[in-house]
Amino acid sequence: MAVRYAGRVVVMAAVMWIAGVPGAGRAPEYYRDVAPILEKHCQVCHRPGEIGPMPLMTYGEARPWARAIREAVVRRKMPPWFADPRFGKFSNDPSLSAAEIETVSEWVKAGSPAGDAREAGPARRWSVGWSIPKPDVVLETPRAIAIPARGTVEYQYVVMPTGFRQDKWVAMAEVRPSERAVVHHAVVYIRPPGSDWLREAKPGIPYSIPEDDPRHKRLWTTSDLLLVYAPGNEPDRLPEGMAKLIPAGSDLVLQMHYTPNGKAVEERTSIGLKYARGPVTKRVLSLQMGNDQFVLPPGDADVRVAAHGTLPNEALLLSLFPHMHLRGASFAFHYIHEDGKIETLLYVKPYDFHWQLSYRLAQPRLLPAGAKLEWVAHFDNSANNPQNPDPGAAVRYGEQSTEEMMIGFFDVAVAPGVDKERFFVRGGER
Ligand code: HEC
Repeated sequence: MAVRYAGRVVVMAAVMWIAGVPGAGRAPEYYRDVAPILEKHCQVCHRPGEIGPMPLMTYGEARPWARAIREAVVRRKMPPWFADPRFGKFSNDPSLSAAEIETVSEWVKAGSPAGDAREAGPARRWSVGWSIPKPDVVLETPRAIAIPARGTVEYQYVVMPTGFRQDKWVAMAEVRPSERAVVHHAVVYIRPPGSDWLREAKPGIPYSIPEDDPRHKRLWTTSDLLLVYAPGNEPDRLPEGMAKLIPAGSDLVLQMHYTPNGKAVEERTSIGLKYARGPVTKRVLSLQMGNDQFVLPPGDADVRVAAHGTLPNEALLLSLFPHMHLRGASFAFHYIHEDGKIETLLYVKPYDFHWQLSYRLAQPRLLPAGAKLEWVAHFDNSANNPQNPDPGAAVRYGEQSTEEMMIGFFDVAVAPGVDKERFFVRGGER
């Protein structure tokens, strides 16, 4: 009798197991349920050589972090993503679904069991080095730049001749610093052959001008951006038929912002380019709109800084990228319709300086010529902001992280024959 009774219990449990009814006693296991989630959402950073502080590639690696993983996932701290879900949909949104969060949470509550390794799917293959497909060409800074253990380092510019004898349409590009830990960000500009910007800088030799030097404004440029690199931001994947143009004879100019982190290192950076395969029907331009005329009063917890503009020509909006420093609290991108209706394209809150992310629209958005755009940032210069390096300071625009910035970058696609200068001539696209 007792034996039969026990047998029935076992059978019932097996039925619930197969049906997989949530909450019906089916504890998630690592190999079957959790590993696919870590592969999909975490390993892009949590694998050797990437920016995550520990790899999460195997059960052995994930198990000791189980509680921290649950905490990070339930509180939506990981993967990092700051777009308010009420506004816009983004193709690079890495967020876990509610069901995935539940799975991770229940797995940890159940004691983080491994399960059966045979139930794991084939492990995801990660390319070593580049995250874009193998580049067609790689440019590397010819000399290492010595980064001291501490102090501030002026922005370093390195002119890198491409040697291109023909125009090149670039579908994907990636920056790989050799010492990621000290690279706060990198920007790659396309300097066309006619430009005299930074002509005094010798190719390959790091060049800088101190911020208090009157010549510092020479660093300002209207050159188009090839890309902006910041830790955690995956390289752009442009939609089919769209690409950035590197005109024949151009140089790439690398702007590096280094932040010393206690250990002196020698840094070299590589830029990988993958050319467009098919015909290019749209040229992608990176534009920016910002405000550099603000003052954040000492101790002020909420300072609003806005920037306005109208789009000179029709353009297909592809992505948005807010940039502020340590006192940034939130950033909104608004499109003001002709009838005055304000449409929020993206609202980033909280803003976290350590995560410089680009937000790629799931559906590119056609904006008409004359479209009114408004970017609104809020800053917290009070002592309540744990990132604030000095709540007693009045803060203005500047390059170092102790100063502030307010820039909204945005990528648009336009007709292939239009460059940045022509785009800004009103009515110039036709
Ligand atoms: C874009 C890169 C990136 C992705 C994607 C990412 N992480 Fe992280 N993670 C980091 C970095 C960098 C840190 C350390 C700095 C920080 O905590 O912000 C971190 C920290 C953590 C920590 C805290 C470690 C500690 O020291 O306490 C946990 C736990 C964690 N990640 C789990 C995850 C999980 C789980 C996922 C996927 C669901 C994930 N991360 C996705 C980059 C990433």
